[in-house]
Amino acid sequence: MIAYASRTGNVRHIFLQLGLPGIEIRGDTTVGEPFLLLTYTDGLGEVPPVVEVFMNRNGAYCRGVVASGNRNFGHAHFGRAGDVIAERWNVPLVRKLELRGFPRDYEAIRQFYLERIGEGSGREREIVFASEQ
Ligand SMILES: Cc1cc2nc3c(=O)[nH]c(=O)nc-3n(C[C@H](O)[C@H](O)[C@H](O)COP(=O)(O)O)c2cc1C
Repeated sequence: MIAYASRTGNVRHIFLQLGLPGIEIRGDTTVGEPFLLLTYTDGLGEVPPVVEVFMNRNGAYCRGVVASGNRNFGHAHFGRAGDVIAERWNVPLVRKLELRGFPRDYEAIRQFYLERIGEGSGREREIVFASEQ
């Protein structure tokens, strides 16, 4: 699944373009299956606090991160939430997008997702694997 955080709507727009199952992160969100994280960048190259809290609860299930940012914040800070999460949780930085990004970004993210996480939720995949045996 996708887990996303969006303050002003850009990341929500990206999520909706993907056409993949997912949830919006709230303060107390808990997931029990592999997910791809979509986040914006806050402060000066920082991970949004709501995402920090979410990752401290659920980071073990994170399989990759996508970060939205704005190049106006400078090269060192652009989309840096993605770099920070990737390093801290040892997961791939799948893509950085400027604001809402472009169709080619959505395609790359969708491809990563389908290869590494699967079409449905983790639970659905387990059921598929079980019935194949
Ligand atoms: C207070 C504030 C701080 C921000 N800091 C950064 C930053 O350091 N680096 C960056 O790339 N973008 C930064 N941004 C831009 C947002 O990450 C970007 O607009 C993103 O697309 C917002 O996603 P959302 O609309 O889903 O909330 C900042 C935006 C705001 C409002």
